Amino acid sequence: MTDRRDAVLAEIGIQPIWRLHAQTPAREAAPDKPLQPVAAQTPVIRAHTGKLLEEPSGASLSTMPPSKASSVPEALGWEALEESVRGCTACGLCQARKQTVFGVGDRQADWLLVGEGPGAEEDERGEPFVGQAGKLLDAMLGSIGLTRGEDVYIANAVKCRPPGNRTPEASEIAACTPFLERQIALIQPRLIVALGRPAAQSLLNAEIKIGAARGRLFDRQGIPVIVTYHPAYLLRNLEDKAKSWEDLCFAQDQMQRLKAGARGEIA
Ligand code: URA
Repeated sequence: MTDRRDAVLAEIGIQPIWRLHAQTPAREAAPDKPLQPVAAQTPVIRAHTGKLLEEPSGASLSTMPPSKASSVPEALGWEALEESVRGCTACGLCQARKQTVFGVGDRQADWLLVGEGPGAEEDERGEPFVGQAGKLLDAMLGSIGLTRGEDVYIANAVKCRPPGNRTPEASEIAACTPFLERQIALIQPRLIVALGRPAAQSLLNAEIKIGAARGRLFDRQGIPVIVTYHPAYLLRNLEDKAKSWEDLCFAQDQMQRLKAGARGEIA
């Protein structure tokens, strides 16, 4: 396992930091963030209500306007939901798409990862994260012992490719959010990881600054949400890969706590 983990960390370019962690306090790599493993009393921030259970210093959480999209009927099962996404014309993104990109993975996964929106390759193939960012995402998953499709579901904040790979607009995210909400309701993941700002915006209905929100636990209607950098951002900002790995370790630690809690091992 250690060899494999070393290989994966080398692959995603963070192995030196892994060694650094063993010798040096993690605070050195991220001075304003909690050390990991993160203590059980990590502040929890409640999303969607606009209220903070506990406001962490530096976190910016302002309430976004409510979603304007028509809601997705609560009774929609997977097939009907997929069909509904396929036929969606709720925003302008439908005009240039080759196809919708619904999501992929284990429909009973403990882990849900949410990205921004399909890029050119995803639009071509109909599957999220199959391009360069996807390769990095797979390596990131591997670094904490996860494999795409095994106890992991991957979805996006918007299901259609924004032209030129631009960031989806707030109205486009709002139009697509009911689909993501229904996916969450069907999967019932234990933990959600938001990859980048648009994903965090969709999940938390709030403007989030990733740098300030990292290392915090948000509560999305009973499901914890952790925020980290988007893999495409990491491909352009290699120096932040170590922080992202820290976030994944934080998520892994929280998952262990959630599972232990479910087994009655933690009060
Ligand atoms: N970036 C995303 O956010 N999602 C994808 O599916 C691909 C790239």
